[in-house]
Amino acid sequence: MQTQILTFNSENLKKCADEILSGGIVAFPTETVYGLGANALDENAVKKIYVAKGRPSDNPLICHVSNKAQIEKLGDVTPFARKIIDAFMPGPITVVLSKKNCVSGVVTGGLNTVGVRMPDHEVARTFIAECGVPLCAPSANTSTKPSPTQAKYVFDDLNGKIRYILDGGNCRVGIESTIVDCVNKRILRKGGVSEEQIEAVVGKLGKEPIKSDVPLCPGMKYKHYSPDAEVYLAKAGVDMTKRICDFYDKLVGKKIIFSLKGDYGNRNVVKVGDTVVQYAENVFALFREADKSGYRYIICEGVEDCGIGAALLNRLNKSSGGKTI
Ligand code: TXA
Ligand code: MG
Repeated sequence: MQTQILTFNSENLKKCADEILSGGIVAFPTETVYGLGANALDENAVKKIYVAKGRPSDNPLICHVSNKAQIEKLGDVTPFARKIIDAFMPGPITVVLSKKNCVSGVVTGGLNTVGVRMPDHEVARTFIAECGVPLCAPSANTSTKPSPTQAKYVFDDLNGKIRYILDGGNCRVGIESTIVDCVNKRILRKGGVSEEQIEAVVGKLGKEPIKSDVPLCPGMKYKHYSPDAEVYLAKAGVDMTKRICDFYDKLVGKKIIFSLKGDYGNRNVVKVGDTVVQYAENVFALFREADKSGYRYIICEGVEDCGIGAALLNRLNKSSGGKTI
């Protein structure tokens, strides 16, 4: 199968919607990362996502909708969930709700809850509306790889496995949505909307883990966001530059530092942006580019653990497999 990257116009939109409605899978842009979509109401189509990504089948998929009325068809919208939906959707946030019967266990990995998200991206919402059904979609990368933030990175991972990639340019947020468990009132995954923003709307959230026989966010137990290069995360702090320089100098092999504005002399550095927001937007693309350039080691500057920085640190921690300096 030849994979085509399609520009966003009405003819291509129809092509992609036809592919979805005939049981196929299509990659599409959102404001966080690209998703790999299937008709959420078609179990056979949904199964194709797990195959194309090489994803374990107990790892549930998020359902993407184009309007708020669609959310209630998929899950129970409690008053708590309603507040979050009203405040942050469309936007980079996912609500986990008790699922309705129409949602198959294939989508939810056997859980009795469903994740629902309404993306803040014109191409995504126009596409979902054109399909006329909710689209369940994980990030459109091969399992364990960094999430793709441009159509060409989806192509690198899924060429030959899907027919179409709908191109929407670069993803604005760059890391995935925040997942809020509205049943247990917990954040399951930090992301594009910060904990501080959410607590300003619903009050303090529970922090201690819920005891449960099933993992509450199955995906978080798997290896994630990993480039081929070995990643090290430097903890933020006054002596961070010195720690990075000392560590860099000892490493043998092609190496690079991901930095906001640090001064590293003549060492190899890539500027990740001017702000933490830009660091988050660019980091997955820079991981992929570092792999293409054959780097063996990537040392990432840490940032303050708040706002979008908290979500970024979560991803950097996973990418590094917990290796900090
Ligand atoms: O920004 C995003 O959320 C992107 C874009 C494409 O929308 N999607 C995304 O999907 O990151 P994925 O599959 O790569 O990550 C979804 C995470 C997984 O860790 C999964 O376990 C969790 O959401 N999840 C999905 N449904 C859930 C549920 N019912 N309960 C708990 N966790 C759930
Ligand atoms: Mg993913």
